Order: sequence, then C-alpha cells, then structure tokens
Amino acid sequence: PTNQNCLLVIFGASGDLTKRKLIPALYALWRNGTLPESFAVVGIARSDYGDEAYRELLYDFNPSAYDEDASKWAEFSQRVHYLSADSTKAEAWPEIERRLCGLSQQYKTGDNVLFYLSLAPQFFEPVIRHIGQSGLVTEGRRYCSLTPERPWQRIVIEKPFGSDPGSAVKLNQVLAEVFDESAIYRIDHYLGKELVQNMMVLRFANSLFEPIWNQRYVDHVQITASETVGVEGRGSYYDSPAGGAMRDMVQSHLLQVLSIVAMEPPVSLAADDIRTEKIKIFKALRVPTASEVPEIAVRGQYGAGAVSGVSVPAYRDEDGVAADSQTDTFAAMKLKVDTWRWGSVPFYLRSGKAMAEKKTEIVVYLKPTPHVLFREQAQKLKANQILISIQPDEGIRLRFEGKVPGPGMQIKDVVMDFDYVKQWEASPPDGYATLLHDCIRGDQTLFKHRDEIECAWDAVQPVIDYWHNNPQDDLPNYNAGTWGPSASDIMMARDGRYWHNF
Ligand code: BG6
Repeated sequence: PTNQNCLLVIFGASGDLTKRKLIPALYALWRNGTLPESFAVVGIARSDYGDEAYRELLYDFNPSAYDEDASKWAEFSQRVHYLSADSTKAEAWPEIERRLCGLSQQYKTGDNVLFYLSLAPQFFEPVIRHIGQSGLVTEGRRYCSLTPERPWQRIVIEKPFGSDPGSAVKLNQVLAEVFDESAIYRIDHYLGKELVQNMMVLRFANSLFEPIWNQRYVDHVQITASETVGVEGRGSYYDSPAGGAMRDMVQSHLLQVLSIVAMEPPVSLAADDIRTEKIKIFKALRVPTASEVPEIAVRGQYGAGAVSGVSVPAYRDEDGVAADSQTDTFAAMKLKVDTWRWGSVPFYLRSGKAMAEKKTEIVVYLKPTPHVLFREQAQKLKANQILISIQPDEGIRLRFEGKVPGPGMQIKDVVMDFDYVKQWEASPPDGYATLLHDCIRGDQTLFKHRDEIECAWDAVQPVIDYWHNNPQDDLPNYNAGTWGPSASDIMMARDGRYWHNF
C-alpha cells in the first residue's frame, strides 16, 4: 500500500457535487477512522470565502449528512480550508502553490497531492495544464509510484469525459502530458455502488451463476436506469451539445455496468487485471452503422405529466432549454458484444428522466428449457430471470417457475430474494466514500481506463450523429411519469421481447 498521507485539492469547491457528495463522504471516512492522520482538504473556487465561511457553507447545505454531535463536525472541518482563486488563469497559480505548500507543511502531508477536478468540463484542460506547469507535479515525481517511500500526485476527473470520441481523445492526451495513466482516476460513481461491485462476487465467487453466464443460456440482458427527476436546474448544461441521456447516462454509467456483466474472469483481482478484461469488452462493442440506428436506438423527450402525483412541466418548458429542443431525455439502445461468450446475445440499455420510477437494475433473461414438459402451461411459462437491483431496493432476486400448492399441476413464477438491507441490516454506503478512499490508497480498480472511455464513445457516437442529422418531429414523445416513448417498447417487441418494468 502507498503512503496515504495527502492533501486533497478540490477544484470546483463551491459546486453542488462538493457539497452534496464529496465532503459528506470524506466526513464519513474520517468518522470511521479511515483517513490518515496527515490529511487535509483545500477547496478552490472563485467565490470569495474565508475558511470559516466555507465550512459553514458546507455544513448548512446538508446538516443531516453530518453527526448530531456538532463537536465532531467542528473537529473534522478544521482540516478543511478554502482558497478563492480562478484556477483556469496562470496568474492565480503562484498563490495556489504557496498555499498548498504551506498546508502540506502544516499537516505533514509531504508531496502527496490528490487533485480533484469537480469542474464544468470546459475548465478541465486549462486546469490540468496549470497543474502540469506548477511545481506541484515535479519532474521525476510525475509518475505515481507504487513504492511507499516515493511521493505521489494523482488526479481525479469527473464526468463528462469529453462529449464525443475526438474530445475524449484530446482530454486523454492533455492528461497524459502531465500524469502517467497509473495516476489518473476517471471517476464513474456507478462503479462505487455496492451492487455493481457485488456483480463481481455474484459471478466469480459462485459456481451457481458462472456456468450459465453465456450465450448458451442467456437470452438477453436489460440494463435500466430510470429516474423520476427532470433536469433539476441543469437545463442549460443538459440541453447543450454535450448533454442528453445517451451521453449523460448510457455512454458512461450504463456501458460501465455492461462491461462488468459481460467481462471474462480476470486472472487476479489486481486493478490492471480487472481493467484488462473490461477493456476487452469495450473493444468488442459492435459499433452500429448509420443505417442500423433506427432499428437499434430510440430517443425520447418528456412532455408535461405527473411523477408520483406531482405535476412536472415539459422538458422544453424548463429553464435553459430551447423551445424546439431535440435533446434526448430518454435513450434506449440495443448493443452487441462481439465475443465468444456472448455470440448473438443482445444487451438492451435504457435511461430516462421524469419516468415512472427511480430504478437502476440489471435483468438477465435466461433461455427456455430445451423441451417443454408442462405443455398445458406452456403459454404461461415465463423466462427465468436474474435481477440485480442496484438501487433502490438493493438486492439480487431470482425469478423462476414453481408449483402452486394443491392438487393438479399449476405453475406460477416465484421469487427468491436476497435483500441487501434485510441481510446486512444496513443501507449500502455511498459510493463516493469508497471511491475517494480508493484514490487515497492508490487503487484504480473502480476507475476507468482511457481505452474504455474512447471505445464507449465510439459505440454510441453513430447514434448521436444520426439523431443530430435526423431531427424527430414527434418530440416530446412521452409524458412525464411514464416508462418512456412507445417506440422503445416497439423496439423490444420487434425482437419478441419486452422491458422489465415492475
Ligand atoms: C449523473 C448524471 O452522472 O448521474 C445525472 O449526470 C444523473 O443526470 C445521475 O441524475 C444519476 O445518479 P444516481 O446515483 O442518482 O443514479
């Protein structure tokens, strides 16, 4: 393990993510004794705060994320500092360096620095370049060393990672000019979710599942991430050329989940071995041609409706959204993974805003038995399903056929239920705590390699291009509070399948 003492420098310190996720996650790590003694946080943003005012801002944003015992927050927050600076400008950097050096001496963190880019994507490149030009990532220390004595500098970069294949490649190049791949942590918070990590255990620690995890037994796989929220004040970002459900959710989170469902067993649990197998899946994603797009992809946009009884305005009526917007607030796509294991098995992915339910799940549908013995019931027999519920109702459920009690042979589907909360008597921890701790310990397993991101863009870009070149007249095409446009059900019906909705 590397020396974990470090200074965590958050760029974008007054933003939502820092207040909502990062600081509460760090606090949770500190509370359970996971953070090293030599550790401090420096938030950098343009707004003008002093250390104390910044601490209050963090606390007031979400008091329930911290203990009722206010003295604990007071103790932790002493390690949180703030620097008002425009980190995209060269003239701000002498002061940034001076302050960071002072704090690293104060907290005895040595030269170990974890840079966290929680910024709007247009600021990634200038800030990375300035980090590179500063004395903070010095020549010879440029490479994240795995030997405990050597100091390290690492960078965490939030999504969106590019907005198309070209911009992702460019961003990877800029990062590579300053940091070695082993020091770059491209974060995807879905990889921090417990049930996503449990996928590895389900598949590779059990002889029950792995033998059937292939095209011989699996009919198809569905991965759904439906959200009930709309764009929640992010209209101008979401409606920009970088936004939309295909980019925001499918290209990133859902393809990551797919890669873990589809990967081969790694030779060990070392980060490199796991990432090697994931990369193979990304490389095997079949890139659709433009003419295939209408068959394999569906876009949707929500109109006015009601989610859980609360009325929701149409997407086009949200602040920052164009009145004739073509942005997809829903996207569904059928993908093929061209490998020996998966042969012709389709993977259906979908995600949308303002839908009927918040639900992130993987459903593996198995093929029917080779011969139907229960002929009279044949019409009623349902496919066996392995359901991995990522959130909410975290758990793993097996759906199979059972005999209804009593005389005769009536068959009905039954569910065997591993419910996370009941089993462990606790809710799953927030993914950000796991991921931040991994950055501090130097474990890249749950972070994306550059190849994964570039291949993921290649797989979805033909769809995005087709949609861009072929505006759709019938948008909005689903009401808020429903399961998305009928075209997505029709896409499934063409293949003789249907979405798993409840
Ligand atoms: C983010 C997207 O990456 O993930 C958001 O940018 C989305 O649009 C969010 O709402 C969903 O995350 P979760 O953890 O609530 O499923």
